[in-house]
Amino acid sequence: MTTTAGSGFFARLLDPAQRSDPYPLYADMRAHGPTRLGRTPVVVLSSHRDCTAVLRHKSASVERHHASIPLGPTPVHDLAGEHAGALTGTASMLFRDAPDHTRLRRLVAKAFTPAVVRTLEPRITEIADAALDRAAERGHLDIVADLAYPLPITVICELLGVPLDDEPLLRQWSMLLARSLDPISATVTAGRPDPAQIAGASNELHDYFEQLVRRRTRSGEDLVSALIAAEESDDSLTHDELISTCVLLLIAGHETTVNLIANTTLALLRHRHHLAILGVAAPFAAAVIEESLRYDPPVQLVPRIVREPIELPEIELAAGDLAIMLIAAANHDPAVFPDPTRFDPARAHRHLAFGLGQHFCLGAPLARLETSVAITRFARRVHNPRLAVDPPVYRDHITLRGPAAMPVTFTDIA
Ligand code: HEM
Repeated sequence: MTTTAGSGFFARLLDPAQRSDPYPLYADMRAHGPTRLGRTPVVVLSSHRDCTAVLRHKSASVERHHASIPLGPTPVHDLAGEHAGALTGTASMLFRDAPDHTRLRRLVAKAFTPAVVRTLEPRITEIADAALDRAAERGHLDIVADLAYPLPITVICELLGVPLDDEPLLRQWSMLLARSLDPISATVTAGRPDPAQIAGASNELHDYFEQLVRRRTRSGEDLVSALIAAEESDDSLTHDELISTCVLLLIAGHETTVNLIANTTLALLRHRHHLAILGVAAPFAAAVIEESLRYDPPVQLVPRIVREPIELPEIELAAGDLAIMLIAAANHDPAVFPDPTRFDPARAHRHLAFGLGQHFCLGAPLARLETSVAITRFARRVHNPRLAVDPPVYRDHITLRGPAAMPVTFTDIA
């Protein structure tokens, strides 16, 4: 259905008041059907059927230059034509179609296979336990600041070979860059990120990796060294691609997983019988995590540019259209997930939280393992945890949505 109601939905999507629970809005959008924003080439899709069809479609591109309106090199929906800053640079695999995408993804894919990732479990457990030990000493625990953030940032820094002492700098840039993934509009300014600040953070992070790469040799065991070796040994990677890949892995490697750990812990604290089961049965974590990915996905939307017209049952997408797939809405589509607002780890899973098709999340095995360790150690070690604030305060981010803080009270951390 093509309507002008789109602008109203879009204003609600950008409204910070929606952040703690955007799901009623998504239900309205899904009930309305595919929505074109006024006369723009921007279409929002919210059913599981439409999102799946576009993500699998050969004419759905991630390359921004196919768009019929000006877009920055990031998936920012920028109706003003004003570019809010580069997340990773257009040289990263996230913004490239095949065959460049295939070449870039292959270079790092072997570091993230389930078998390789499994070898990290002892170290991930050590990091999670150290985080809980520190909270026990202090006598207070904020799930975001004390567990959900330190765990993935430490892991990805160690994998890349980035000194953890630089983490405060990285945190600041990365938070700003994560905002460059948000849709923005010329007409809705509430909570809008400052484009100059985002562009500054992007430059700083790219410079940071330039310097790191200059200091590093190809003989190290970390991922940055492996990429340098690939750059030097043949033509498989340009210098821009090397830097963009580092930036992508750093940001994708933690900004999303922070939210998955926090969202999953939140769901468990609101569904205490599941938390109790997890405390005595660690294998239950896998089902809890899949349901959390469906129920409250860390990435709420992904964009595609239409190269050749795509026919959907209720709308035809034209070449140059920007399709925004609201995967968080698709994950609550009652046609696929009966009683979608119920948190039920026993469901069979077809969620879109990690995307679909060629750009399916490379880090999914790592994200699942980190979250599994975090929630099992939490369920085992933290006695009588209760949310101190419910709902928690959310970050302003729309695309990478999650709590800003999540203090919990407890009687003991064993
Ligand atoms: C809960 C955690 C995570 C979620 C929900 C998530 C979600 C996603 C989604 C939805 C995409 C597809 C984007 C698109 O189709 O446009 C994606 C791509 C990607 N993710 Fe993740 N991600 C997570 C964790 C990670 C981690 C830990 C890493 C790596 C270290 C990572 C690395 C990547 C990369 C490199 C891509 C681009 C893949 C490509 O273009 O082929 N992600 N992720």
